[in-house]
Amino acid sequence: MSNVKVLVFSGSIRKGSFNKQLAAVAAQSAGAEAEVTLLDLADFPMPIYDGDLEAAEGLPTNAKKLRRLFDEHDAFIIASPEYNGFFSPLLKNTLDWVSRSDADEPDLVPYKGKVAALLAASPGGLGGLRALPSLRQLLSGIGVLVIPDQLAIGGAMSVFDGEGQLKDDSWQPKIDGVVEALMKTASALKS
Ligand SMILES: Cc1cc2nc3c(=O)[nH]c(=O)nc-3n(C[C@H](O)[C@H](O)[C@H](O)COP(=O)(O)O)c2cc1C
Repeated sequence: MSNVKVLVFSGSIRKGSFNKQLAAVAAQSAGAEAEVTLLDLADFPMPIYDGDLEAAEGLPTNAKKLRRLFDEHDAFIIASPEYNGFFSPLLKNTLDWVSRSDADEPDLVPYKGKVAALLAASPGGLGGLRALPSLRQLLSGIGVLVIPDQLAIGGAMSVFDGEGQLKDDSWQPKIDGVVEALMKTASALKS
């Protein structure tokens, strides 16, 4: 067991989301080696980022809670849906709110020096692969080291059982491989 803390979440809050299920499988895999927190962003509803709202009301409580959670973890595993070739607006909104500081600390503190692995799942053949470069670019730009290993699972309706488990076990070693690569990089960065 390493002392790395991993935050795992999906960019979809849909009931039965393939990416939520993928996040759950990845969290289980990471749990063998690390302290893992599996988040459901449905538990942290937030308005679309609006500078006027922030100026008038400050950060939403859920933005503060999420910022603290990001801050407390060393590594992130993100499973994103693909919408028209990009990662989800929910993910963008979440990452944007978390990048806002209401204290003296710099905005990007929860991201700097962290490491991330990207996953995707889709009913389509490419598995959401086209969403990952834009997500990689965003995270890299705010100080997160995104590992080269990534995974996009196509034909997702025949891969997950609806309860957050794999019904097609052939994906398990591939998910474990990405998680293992993340753990190696995160452990090296922490030591
Ligand atoms: C607005 C919209 C755009 C979509 N665009 C894509 C796409 O570009 N590529 C793809 O593979 N699937 C696309 N899909 C299908 C999603 O992959 C599918 O809804 C998937 O189940 C969403 O992820 P989730 O199961 O984690 O909620 C799109 C769905 C929506 C609603």
